[in-house]
Amino acid sequence: MVVLTSCSHRGVINTVRQAVAASGVDKVLAVIGGFHVVPPLGDDYINKTIEEFRAIDPKYLIVGHCTGDRFYDLARAALGDKVIHSAVGTRLVFGAN
Ligand SMILES: [Fe+2]
Repeated sequence: MVVLTSCSHRGVINTVRQAVAASGVDKVLAVIGGFHVVPPLGDDYINKTIEEFRAIDPKYLIVGHCTGDRFYDLARAALGDKVIHSAVGTRLVFGAN
């Protein structure tokens, strides 16, 4: 499953969990969108979000829009290359094997 979050004002982890619950699919390949982890949300919230993503274990976290630079920096440091920045014009291609 690929979760497109739009602008995650209700919490990006809540969004992913709801997608899993609604679909019945528990393997998340990618989460794409605005994660909205911006001030006043601070490092504690960011680190909890990163740990939740570590547990969900998507192959890709593709962040853009309102995700927040601090979240990107900390997530990239914690989770490595699975965290990818996107912007207007980014082309994403997923294939089935
Ligand atoms: Fe947002």
